[in-house]
Amino acid sequence: PRNRIFFWKVTYSTLAPDGVTRPVILVNEKYPGPKIEVNRGDYVTVIVENALDVPTSFHWHGMTMRGDPWYDGVPGMNQCPIPAGTNFTYAFGTDDVVGTHWWHAHFENQYIDGLVGAIIIRDPPATNPFLHAYDEERNVILTDWYHQATGPLLQTYMSPASNGHEPVPNSGLINGKGTFNCKNVIPADLPCTPTNDRAIFHVLPNRRYRLRIINTAAASSFLFSIDGHQLLVIEADGTDLNPFMVDSLPINTGQRYSVIVVTNQEVANYWMRAEIGMDCLPPGVNNLDPIVLGEVRYAGAGVAPPTSVGRWVPKPPVKGQEPEKNPAFAAACQDLDLFALHPLKPVPILEPITNSYDVKMTFKRNPKDNIVRGYLNDITFEGDAWNPTIVQNLNEGATYTVAEHVMRLDRRDAVVQIILNNPKGGEHPFHLHGHTFQIIAQGQGVYEEGKTPINSINPLRRDTATVPKDGFTVIRFKVDNPGVWSLHCHIEWHVTTGLVMQFLELPDELRAMGIPKHVGKLCETPAPPRFKAH
Ligand code: C2O
Repeated sequence: PRNRIFFWKVTYSTLAPDGVTRPVILVNEKYPGPKIEVNRGDYVTVIVENALDVPTSFHWHGMTMRGDPWYDGVPGMNQCPIPAGTNFTYAFGTDDVVGTHWWHAHFENQYIDGLVGAIIIRDPPATNPFLHAYDEERNVILTDWYHQATGPLLQTYMSPASNGHEPVPNSGLINGKGTFNCKNVIPADLPCTPTNDRAIFHVLPNRRYRLRIINTAAASSFLFSIDGHQLLVIEADGTDLNPFMVDSLPINTGQRYSVIVVTNQEVANYWMRAEIGMDCLPPGVNNLDPIVLGEVRYAGAGVAPPTSVGRWVPKPPVKGQEPEKNPAFAAACQDLDLFALHPLKPVPILEPITNSYDVKMTFKRNPKDNIVRGYLNDITFEGDAWNPTIVQNLNEGATYTVAEHVMRLDRRDAVVQIILNNPKGGEHPFHLHGHTFQIIAQGQGVYEEGKTPINSINPLRRDTATVPKDGFTVIRFKVDNPGVWSLHCHIEWHVTTGLVMQFLELPDELRAMGIPKHVGKLCETPAPPRFKAH
């Protein structure tokens, strides 16, 4: 194991990844941001210089943060925000994690403005089950993309007039590259230069490539595929899987998969498709071209764009009839069949259940301000970024407001079951910090304990799972990681609107751990006045 130190500078910048210039926030002037690639067991230190004029913070999505809970990066839960113009050092171990993960800002909605990047934790050769299963690897970072900065989008969204309809993205990017038809720019005076800049994956014939696919979107789920090739799924959110072959892969925001692609087709160029789940986005007029393309270029095939066709070719339009809809747009709104995916290393189902929570998500107008907000069990989350739970918990008698939605987990090794109910409305990808959970059940309708079939044999383990439209997802985890862990919808707009709660896990042990001085110090800086929108 080594100490790996990363230096990050966070600055404002502008970028035109799809041809349309917009303000962004970047780490080290890069988009996607710098990748953290280390060996399991390495100790990661990230020294962040916040050169913005607003606070920031960073979360390490997929890390358990065992022993380092105050570096998990959620203002109001594990830390105070990093003030403008100051430095802060994050540090975490990687003993209990391998695979494909990512980092992103967790202060307000900053990650949508560009603060995302990959975290790859390599398994040492002795324990890597896929050591001989592939020859090379590539990262595939997916996102939806907006032509405006998050500030103005939020202003529109968090107003009574939005009726709770999330901002609809304008395009999508693969590894920070995309295209857009300048004719469709809204508003029409946005600077747009047509670009054909697509992500290009150069491959050699007859080799095996591991693609690490990360969905860093604000809101969109994708159906991922490569024309003419199948995908052998071997990892979900850091859990190695019994290899499972698919033609296309739904991946929701926050989720990661590794797939192996064998380049055994005719030497040619092929489209890589990341099709945005239009059926999971709010209705409304938009200028989004939902099929985000990259190119897989075989050596020797030249540089002409692919002529490959996808699995679905629309029938020619018939006058007076609705044009046929791409089935990918609906398929992207659900996780892969839960019962088809099983970890390579079997672990028995967690039981017996000691704590069970029914968590029901709803949207309704908040009588206070008439804005449509998200509720978990009738609570719309509102925390105080400058008064984090982990600091409050240092006082033994700390109490929390209803809106902070704190669930205490006091008993070590207790098994927690959460039934995520989504009785009405669109799908929601739920992410739990600090844990990899088991997924016991997932489906349409209502979960009925003892009646609904559960995935009891070697259930899938991951950290982000979709709660289907009009359906449920049931997860379990073990209480063994002292900290404050957020459970929230990873549609970033829904974080702002209140679809968030937190677990205060083993508060006594957590208190005994104290907190590092420089973390405590962050909270001595007074909260700045309301940030200005960039
Ligand atoms: Cu990737 Cu709390 O999020």
